[in-house]
Amino acid sequence: MIRRACLIAVLAICPAIAFLYAETGYDAWLRYTPVTPAAKRLYARLPAAIFTSHESPVLESARQELERGVHGMLGKIMQVKPRIAAGDAIILATFDTLPAIAPSLTPPSSPVKESYLLKTLELNGHSILLIAAPDDRGVLYGVFALLRHIALGQAIDNLDEYGTPYAPVRWTNEWDDLDGTIERGYAGRSIFFANGHVVRNLTRARDYARLLASIGINGCTVNSVNADPRTLTSEFIPQLARIAAAFRPWGVRMSIAVDFSSPKSVGALDTFDPLDSKVAAWWRQKADEVYHAIPDLAGFVLKADSEGRLGPSAYGRTHADAANVIARALKPHGGLLLYRTFVYDHHMNWRDPKNDRARAAYDNFHPLDGQFQDNVILQIKHGPIDFQVREPVSPLLGALARTNEAIELQITQEYTGQQRHLCYLAPMWKEALDFDLHAAGLSTPVKDLVSGRAFRRPTGGFIGVANVGLDANWLGHDLAMANLYGFGRLAWNPNLSARDIAQEWTRQTFGHDAHVVDTIVSLLMESWPAYEAYTGPLGAGTLTDIIHAHYGPGIESSERNGWGQWHHAGADGFGMDRTVATGTGFIGQYAPSLARMYESRAHCPDGLVLFMHHVPWTHVLHSDKTVIQHIYDSHYDGAARAKTFPERWRELKGRIDEPRYQAVLAKLEYQAGHAIVWRDAICDWFLRTSGIPDAHGRVGNHPGRVEAESMTLDGYAVEPVTPWETASGGKAIGCFQPACSASFHFQGTPGPYEIAVQYFDERDGTSVYKLFVAGQDVAEWLANDDLPSDQPNGHTSTRKTVKGIRLRSGDEIRIKATTAAKDHADVDYVEITPPHGAHP
Ligand code: GCU
Repeated sequence: MIRRACLIAVLAICPAIAFLYAETGYDAWLRYTPVTPAAKRLYARLPAAIFTSHESPVLESARQELERGVHGMLGKIMQVKPRIAAGDAIILATFDTLPAIAPSLTPPSSPVKESYLLKTLELNGHSILLIAAPDDRGVLYGVFALLRHIALGQAIDNLDEYGTPYAPVRWTNEWDDLDGTIERGYAGRSIFFANGHVVRNLTRARDYARLLASIGINGCTVNSVNADPRTLTSEFIPQLARIAAAFRPWGVRMSIAVDFSSPKSVGALDTFDPLDSKVAAWWRQKADEVYHAIPDLAGFVLKADSEGRLGPSAYGRTHADAANVIARALKPHGGLLLYRTFVYDHHMNWRDPKNDRARAAYDNFHPLDGQFQDNVILQIKHGPIDFQVREPVSPLLGALARTNEAIELQITQEYTGQQRHLCYLAPMWKEALDFDLHAAGLSTPVKDLVSGRAFRRPTGGFIGVANVGLDANWLGHDLAMANLYGFGRLAWNPNLSARDIAQEWTRQTFGHDAHVVDTIVSLLMESWPAYEAYTGPLGAGTLTDIIHAHYGPGIESSERNGWGQWHHAGADGFGMDRTVATGTGFIGQYAPSLARMYESRAHCPDGLVLFMHHVPWTHVLHSDKTVIQHIYDSHYDGAARAKTFPERWRELKGRIDEPRYQAVLAKLEYQAGHAIVWRDAICDWFLRTSGIPDAHGRVGNHPGRVEAESMTLDGYAVEPVTPWETASGGKAIGCFQPACSASFHFQGTPGPYEIAVQYFDERDGTSVYKLFVAGQDVAEWLANDDLPSDQPNGHTSTRKTVKGIRLRSGDEIRIKATTAAKDHADVDYVEITPPHGAHP
């Protein structure tokens, strides 16, 4: 929403931008701000009348969107013509109506569903801009494509563009629970549900559907894959129908996640055995009931036999049995069943070196290829584990020649910084989509497998787990919206480049100021490599706490438990041996040419070496570095890169609106601090485990750092931190009374310094910190973030930096804290750094 009242004139700073309005991010990339006078001339010949071939809710949205966009960007008020009469016009039409409107025009002979044609032509001496499609949805996508051209400043005088979606299924999944929470959601509560019901006001749902439609997404699953059985009750279905109705004008078909035990848990049967005829009848009757209420429902999504969800194994049946019983019930209604292949044993014996969670999807589903109904799509996570910062492509994607498949990508940044860290994921998705799995000895990039092209499957596509919430900007971090946009654009056309998508998104979201565009695009493009570098390089996985928050460092949480995300780390080295020769055999799931590459340490790409092999710490990479030195270097490089993010962002002050500028700056500053937490935790842990020091002497050696536990404490008590590597020296100080202080005397050379206080911002209360230098109050801040833990650890460790402090030798530096609720105002250390980082 642009609040005109909060007008900020920035003419002096950037004459190209007339005014900047305060924005919340709600409009995302559909801001339709006025184009510059120069750009406006490009569109002088755009007809000012619209004619629509027929009436329908989707065409009505298309027409209104066109009016809204043209008015916003060009200041033109479009006239709506009831019939095609004399005059220039933009015509919105479906192909079947064209013979009557423009007999001379031959539409594509067998058009792809939901494709669109944008064409400028002369008709009876008038200029026409035709937006035509085989169906209403295609017309809507054509309108958005035209508006995108204008927003990007592209010429539209000679258009002849035929846009076709790469695959029929382009959905988001939302992991919303009926109580209004969102599993792995980082942007507030649900836009669909609260307190067990669908919310009364579905404006956000409607607006979300508009955003999705603008990037060609045609389906949205509204509830968590860990589905609440109540979803399918007769009381709940009419409520779901209201969400479907909110989506419908935008051509977004709703789908729902279902619970496999529903015939028993809500259907009152004594079984949910998929081969029992009562169960089949129950699913048929339930599908009929749901489709009666929601005739255009896109289908069901099912997570079965996974992470404690009930599934066909309860009756010794196969996943094909489970999928088919539901698919048969959906078929008469044209519904799809998206069956998730994220199936693995989470009580696996970690002592058995042959056990391997990465094998599970392939082992479970490859033998069933060809046994699924043709309205079943196997929904496959892009990697064999679980949305880690880097994984190889799932071999299952290349192992199903006779089954429909869809790739599942994660927009919500569960393992990639939870929208507190900038991590633009389109480059990662591109790598996966372009990766050639050589299925059946053919050239089969993943995008062609999932779209159904490789094996001429009837359907397939792209699923993005989005988890938008009630935060005004949908995903919590303004820049994270590039991921939602990027997912939609790649699902429509996976041949686009990640950089081009970043460019498009930035221009539409923040305007055309070249410095803004260059800065944001470079930040986006550097963010995933940086995140990987300071969390888990070389295919090690994210090295996060996999049991709880999936956020901060927590390396050993992966080991010695049934979850199967093991690293098998020890004095001898690191990594899972997944070779065929001596390991779990996972590598054998790939086509022979890929298997040969991965099997050999000499040929395995460095980026995946710790995923595929157990290597000694001194194993030399293609880069000529040892594994251990690479780990140290990449963490230092990654954190140094993250440190530049807020510095570069600061150059945009005055060039973008202040609220979004400030909001992003705060996130990038936080990220730079948390990257140091990651760096130190991982490096310290690897140093202790490997026993091999950093060749550059950085690890464990922090000039200017004063541990809190070594300060003079007044009220504060020393406490151990778990896991130890998430606090410097493994310890912190906590205040178990209303107020405490900790102090020391500066012993260095006089001069200007930066003082960083590393503290723990637990989510169980708001402590107040004050920093004093030689008795002067130099900073005060609140620890009131909502980080995902109530303990001092790698999730909560946060850095406050105060710049430009002049210190004299002997100055007292004191932290005073007042606590509230259960927050103990914990402190890890204070670090004093000269302005350019180098210590004398
Ligand atoms: C991850 C995530 C879970 C989710 C699961 C899934 O493991 O942490 O919350 O349910 O993926 O995709 O089913």
